[in-house]
Amino acid sequence: MAGEDEWHLILNTDELAAVPSKPTMKVLQIESTDILLMMGHGKYYALDARCGHRGGPLHEGDLEDLGSTGSSLGLCVRCPWHGRRFQAETGIEVGKDDVLLAPMQRCHELRLDGRGLHVRLTNEGHYASERQSKRKQKRQPKN
Ligand code: FES
Repeated sequence: MAGEDEWHLILNTDELAAVPSKPTMKVLQIESTDILLMMGHGKYYALDARCGHRGGPLHEGDLEDLGSTGSSLGLCVRCPWHGRRFQAETGIEVGKDDVLLAPMQRCHELRLDGRGLHVRLTNEGHYASERQSKRKQKRQPKN
């Protein structure tokens, strides 16, 4: 089981107060892994930022607010490379007619407390996005 020290403060209370009401997203690097943080309607979600299909940078894609159209899917992110969409809450791929397909993106744990928003990486080992994240880490030059 992961320890308390594996939580990372990613937004302090001042930064949380400055989060716009309109859904937004940003990329963070935690333990050499690119994490996509999505925020909207007072909720926060964290997925691997590398697309499980071919490793596209989801943070350069589009954030879609399907919840505003009455859909229960809520926020989704669309990959800029081949257009696949993923639900922010679950990491499940969203197909045509907004049908949920299969889990593709690893979700990370988030926690709010008096200091701000914290993330803890999950290591499931079976998501396509994990394999893409590891490939990207291997390609990065070592300092
Ligand atoms: S790399 Fe994301 S849809 Fe292909």
